[in-house]
Amino acid sequence: MTEIAAYNEAFKSGQYQKPEGLLGKYDNVRRFWEDEVLGLYLRPYLKHLVARRKESGGGIRVLDLGCGSGDGLEFITSISDSSSLLSEHNTKVIGPDMLGAYKGIDINAAMLEQAQSMYGSRPNVTFVQSSFNDYDVFNEEPCELYLANYGTLSHNTDQQTVGLLSNIARHGKDGAIIMLDWLGRFSYEWQTLWTMDFEHNQWMDYVISYIYSDGKDEKHQELAHFPLRIMGRKEALQIYRQVRRNVGDVITLRKLADRSSLVGRHMDTAQYNVHCQPLRRLVNSLFEPNQCTNLDAVLVNYVPGDGFAEVNAYYHRLAGCWNYLVTYTRALFEESKPPEAMPEMPLPLRKSLGAMKRVVRTASGMKTGAPRTSLVEPQLAYCLRELEMALQKGLGCGHGLVAIFEIVK
Ligand SMILES: C[S@@+](CC[C@H](N)C(=O)[O-])C[C@H]1O[C@@H](n2cnc3c(N)ncnc32)[C@H](O)[C@@H]1O
Repeated sequence: MTEIAAYNEAFKSGQYQKPEGLLGKYDNVRRFWEDEVLGLYLRPYLKHLVARRKESGGGIRVLDLGCGSGDGLEFITSISDSSSLLSEHNTKVIGPDMLGAYKGIDINAAMLEQAQSMYGSRPNVTFVQSSFNDYDVFNEEPCELYLANYGTLSHNTDQQTVGLLSNIARHGKDGAIIMLDWLGRFSYEWQTLWTMDFEHNQWMDYVISYIYSDGKDEKHQELAHFPLRIMGRKEALQIYRQVRRNVGDVITLRKLADRSSLVGRHMDTAQYNVHCQPLRRLVNSLFEPNQCTNLDAVLVNYVPGDGFAEVNAYYHRLAGCWNYLVTYTRALFEESKPPEAMPEMPLPLRKSLGAMKRVVRTASGMKTGAPRTSLVEPQLAYCLRELEMALQKGLGCGHGLVAIFEIVK
């Protein structure tokens, strides 16, 4: 029965699975906030790299460390080159002709099997089962891009990370880029773990309880807990200094930035901080077409942590701008007076207010479809994302702390 085999194959490929905007690994926040923020952080460096490669006539070789089910391949080939509505062609920074090779490394066989079934048949795509700490990068041609996204390096000790980065820096070519991320030390999700004792409190006991929709299901008692390194700015800079001590100035830190402040997955479980509101679920709902979101629930009630002035200042500013934007949008819906201006109205907030005003005006003139849920609410979610990107300071105040390095030889 060849048709049965064909449909089995299609199902196994993962391509037949329905995207789940409100739940699951690839929820709306992962796709339209986290992946896109990572892409926007990386884009200027990647464009420069691609331009250089085009001049020398080569493609981009990618090594994805802790690739899971091959997520880095999708990520790297989806980064948009243009925000123009008119440009229909060639709008990705790495188009199909620019991907020289992609190699994914992971220790988990089940993840790799999924990766293999989805992407294994593509040309120049390979997967290897190995620890990235044991993998000999010197044994192959240097890559242009090294990825270790979504908390992957939080599985490592700092010494392992220093060793890994030093080897990549020694072996990598001039202009190569390394993008990685750790779990943020000062994410609101685990405020109970905040401390300034960087020596003794480096690890959190992590559990992926959010895979159950309410996060508090008794099933999560059975889930495995594992240690993950939580990282702040100061410690990330220390790792960078140690790498430079090993290899000299051939590696340069280009960016250190927070991602997923207030929308990390443990906001919904409130497992490590009882004050967390289910903001990821609500922002998923904002992005979701045909689903109306209660804007009052999207307002943040930030409870500060005692003795963390810099971190609290960031969250207060973000939550203030966030709440102002949500309240302003609600006033636009109700055609009521906008809220009174705050003492400080940062430029990214003013830009977002302008965007919301324009989109609500356009939506109110639309006679078909459901403009609030398909147009206005997703735009509000994008504007909240813009606030995070513009206000973050790379302190470790997001679910992830992202670092981008360049090799300069
Ligand atoms: C949080 S997941 C990230 C997956 C993927 N990069 C993504 O973008 O979603 C971390 C991955 O790192 C892998 N991993 C952890 N330690 C590793 C190691 N020492 N060597 C290779 N892979 C490792 C895990 O198996 C898991 O797939």
